[in-house]
Amino acid sequence: MSRIAYVNGHYVRHAEACIHIEDRGYQFADGVYEVCGVRGGKLMDETLHLERLQRSLRELRMEMPMPLAALKHILRETLRRNHVLNGMVYCQVTRGVAPRDHPFPKNARPSLVVTAKRLNEARIAAAVAHGVEVVTMPDQRWARRDIKSIALLPNILAKQSAREAGAYEAWLVDAEGFVTEGSSTNAWIVDEEGRLVTRPEGPDILHGITRHVILQAARSEGIEVVERPFTPQEAKSAREAFISASSAIIIPVIRIDGQAVGNASPGLVALRLREAYGRFGELS
Ligand code: PDD
Repeated sequence: MSRIAYVNGHYVRHAEACIHIEDRGYQFADGVYEVCGVRGGKLMDETLHLERLQRSLRELRMEMPMPLAALKHILRETLRRNHVLNGMVYCQVTRGVAPRDHPFPKNARPSLVVTAKRLNEARIAAAVAHGVEVVTMPDQRWARRDIKSIALLPNILAKQSAREAGAYEAWLVDAEGFVTEGSSTNAWIVDEEGRLVTRPEGPDILHGITRHVILQAARSEGIEVVERPFTPQEAKSAREAFISASSAIIIPVIRIDGQAVGNASPGLVALRLREAYGRFGELS
C-alpha cells in the first residue's frame, strides 16, 4: 500500500509529493506546523492543536490556508487514505510560493501539506517500560519558542548530539542555567516533596498540548503542581523525571548526563499520569 500526502489541494503518492523550490518554507523556514496524535482512528486533542496552529500563524502574520472545518476534513481524509489507526497526523503551513526576497510577498497563497504515519508502538512501549536517558546542553534557539515554527535547526542539532551520546533526548539549558525543555518534548520532574514541576508557559518553551493535558490530569489526581524553572542539578536529585509530547505522551527519564534519577527506573507518578492521560485527552 503506498502512502498518500495532501499537498495544496491534491492527494498524491507520498513518494512523489512535491513543493515548489521557491516555497518560503523551503527558502526561509517561513512556516509553522502541528503534530497531532491519533488513537483508534481519532485525533487526540485536535481542538487544542488547531488553536495552537492558529496562534502560531497569527504570531507570524500568516493566513489560515482554509476554513477550520475544511482543514479538519483533510486531516481525517489523510488518515483514512493512509489507514492510520494509531499514529500521528502532521500538518504544515508556509507563507507560500514567491520569488526569493526577505519581506512578506504581496500575493502568495499559503501552502498546506498534511501527512500521516503509524507510530512505532514497540519502540514507544520499550521506552516507557525501561525509561530513557537525556543529556543537557545549551539552548541555542531563538527567543519565540512558543511559536511552533518549522525552523528547527537548533532542535535537530541538539537531538543529534543526544543520540551520538547514546541518549534519547536533549534537555536544553538557558543562559541562567535552567532547563527550558527537550529538543522535541517538554521537560518535567517530581521534586523531593513529591510535587510535579515544569517550566511555566512563556516565550522560552513550546506550549505543549500534552503538557497542558498532563497538568489537568495531575490536578484532578490530587498531585501538587508547581510551574517553575528547575536546574539540571535539581533534576538529577529529583525523585522522578519525564518528557512529554503528542507522539508518546509521557516517557520516563531514568538518567540525566549519565547520573541516575531516583532508583533509575520509571517513576510511579510518570506512569500514573500516563495512565490518567487517557481519561483527559479528548478524542474526536
Ligand atoms: N514536538 N517542545 C518542543 C520543542 C516540541 O517540538 C514538542 C513537540 C513539544 C511537545 O508538544 P506537544 O505536547 O504539543 O506535542 C515540546 C513534535 C511532536 C514534533 O516536533 O514532532
